[in-house]
Amino acid sequence: MRFLVTGGAGFMGSNFVRYILTKYNDSMIIVYDKLTYAGRLENLHDMKNNPGLKFVKADICDEEKLMKVVKEFQPDVIVNFAAETHVDRSINEPAPFLKTNVYGVFNILETARRLEVPLVVHISTDEVYGDLWGKEPADEEAPFKPSSPYSASKASGDLLCQAYWRTYRLPVIIVRPSNNYGPYQYPEKFIPKIIIRALHDKPIPIYGRGEQVRDWLYVEDFAEALDIVINKGSKGEAYNMPGFNERKNLEVVETILKLMGKPLTLIKHVEDRPGHDRKYAMKGDKILALGWKPKTPWIKGLEKTIKWYIENEWWWKPLLSDDYFRLDTPWKKR
Ligand SMILES: NC(=O)c1ccc[n+]([C@@H]2O[C@H](COP(=O)([O-])OP(=O)(O)OC[C@H]3O[C@@H](n4cnc5c(N)ncnc54)[C@H](O)[C@@H]3O)[C@@H](O)[C@H]2O)c1
Repeated sequence: MRFLVTGGAGFMGSNFVRYILTKYNDSMIIVYDKLTYAGRLENLHDMKNNPGLKFVKADICDEEKLMKVVKEFQPDVIVNFAAETHVDRSINEPAPFLKTNVYGVFNILETARRLEVPLVVHISTDEVYGDLWGKEPADEEAPFKPSSPYSASKASGDLLCQAYWRTYRLPVIIVRPSNNYGPYQYPEKFIPKIIIRALHDKPIPIYGRGEQVRDWLYVEDFAEALDIVINKGSKGEAYNMPGFNERKNLEVVETILKLMGKPLTLIKHVEDRPGHDRKYAMKGDKILALGWKPKTPWIKGLEKTIKWYIENEWWWKPLLSDDYFRLDTPWKKR
């Protein structure tokens, strides 16, 4: 199968590329990635000699370039991971989020429509459903109530996908994973931040009282779910991908510190993020019906992730900014 993986040099994209190249030795993948601060060829370092993998450095908003690559490569599927993804950054500077997560998605859909690409799979997020504190977990038909510029931009991308299916019958599938964790996640994200700070015995900031609930999915389990949706999913549909593993943020920090043998006194409560959602939660009946369920137990996944960060300092050390260990609120900083 021929995959064009946009955003394939980021955290989830690179894990998906590794999963596919390892599982199917006849697959061909072009990773099409702008290499923003979050995208790195180091994420694919162990795959660089794989004959099934090629890389193109380009922006999904670039109409001509995307058209040219799709025309020449003739993918069976475009899998779109490309996005601006950090909520705190979206509060400081929303414009890049709108460009990539809305216009970029439009450009992919329009290119796929013109060139009759057989399938587009768009990676969305559980954040489009908004804060579900005190409410039922969302199924795929639940209303969108995004809270941050990030989640609003992601919800807009979903709506464009739905419109392209309805109006043009463009074969598109949307997937909405919950919070992923595992190797190659950028140090600004919650779990790597806890591990890296704990390794340095530095205080670990937690927003407010740490009572926000997130659902966690190990990134290799996500890759498997995505592979199943690409092969068995129905066009025009959306699929939630829950981890069935809801945890309070404070519990996540405490568990990681215990696993690392570090004191809980490292935890420091800081001012909460504006608009911070208290809870994300999704139903997963549709993806379960396709025969998938997560394989990696929570503690096992955390142990694997901690081990990876301990053994791969070369990967994350160059990414730490001068103020990485400061405790102030990041949305006021940039
Ligand atoms: N990480 C999570 O927990 C999570 C959960 C649910 C959904 N998602 C979604 O999954 C996708 C991947 O998330 P991630 O955590 O791997 O993100 P990431 O920030 O690690 O990677 C994003 C990648 O997209 C690339 N990119 C950004 N703008 C681009 C553009 N204009 N053109 C081409 N490439 C561009 C970056 O260079 C990077 O390689 C995103 O769409 C995100 O919204 C992530």
